[in-house]
Amino acid sequence: MILKQIVLSLLLMFVIFFSLRVIYGLLVFMFKRNTLAMYIPSFNRHIRLMKEHLKLVPGKKLVDLWCGDGKAMRFFDRTFGVQADGYEIQFFPHFYGKILNKILWYPDLRLLKKNFLLADIHGYDYIYVYLLPQQMSDIESRIFKNMASGALIISNSFQFAIHKPYEVIKDRKWKPSIFLYRK
Ligand SMILES: C[S@@+](CC[C@H](N)C(=O)[O-])C[C@H]1O[C@@H](n2cnc3c(N)ncnc32)[C@H](O)[C@@H]1O
Repeated sequence: MILKQIVLSLLLMFVIFFSLRVIYGLLVFMFKRNTLAMYIPSFNRHIRLMKEHLKLVPGKKLVDLWCGDGKAMRFFDRTFGVQADGYEIQFFPHFYGKILNKILWYPDLRLLKKNFLLADIHGYDYIYVYLLPQQMSDIESRIFKNMASGALIISNSFQFAIHKPYEVIKDRKWKPSIFLYRK
């Protein structure tokens, strides 16, 4: 009986926490327009797709330019053994991501609370982005101008306005889902 109550309470706390997280993302997106992108971690179906199709080299450097709580970074670290850095501008996703990295033991991930516009992306082999088309086109010229010449851009769900991907990974329903670019 007590065990059932504990399990139900934990479940309730879990549901409340995740609902608050979504509401927080929506409110920030509505009222604080300068953050540009809503805090939505990559979906598991996209993560599975990248796991099946990407071949990243262990030890190479990856940056998630708008990393949220670092969910995608943790995936890239545990699946491919790349060294991942992430830039996040908002307090909550950054703080929550740091706690998750401690609890789930990802000591090598660097979650930086900084505007990605200040990032030097030249040193990275892989650049991961998960942004809406408008935001993609806002940052397109900056990314292509500053990235290293051999670097690979992995874009989740959306495409750049001008540059064309050299490969498109489709999901099981043949929907284009992951877009790969080189300079
Ligand atoms: C769609 S979420 C990122 C999800 C994460 N990349 C993942 O795949 O799990 C977008 C995040 O970008 C952050 N963001 C918006 N503008 C930013 C900026 N200029 N620099 C760094 N982070 C920014 C937002 O706060 C938001 O948490």
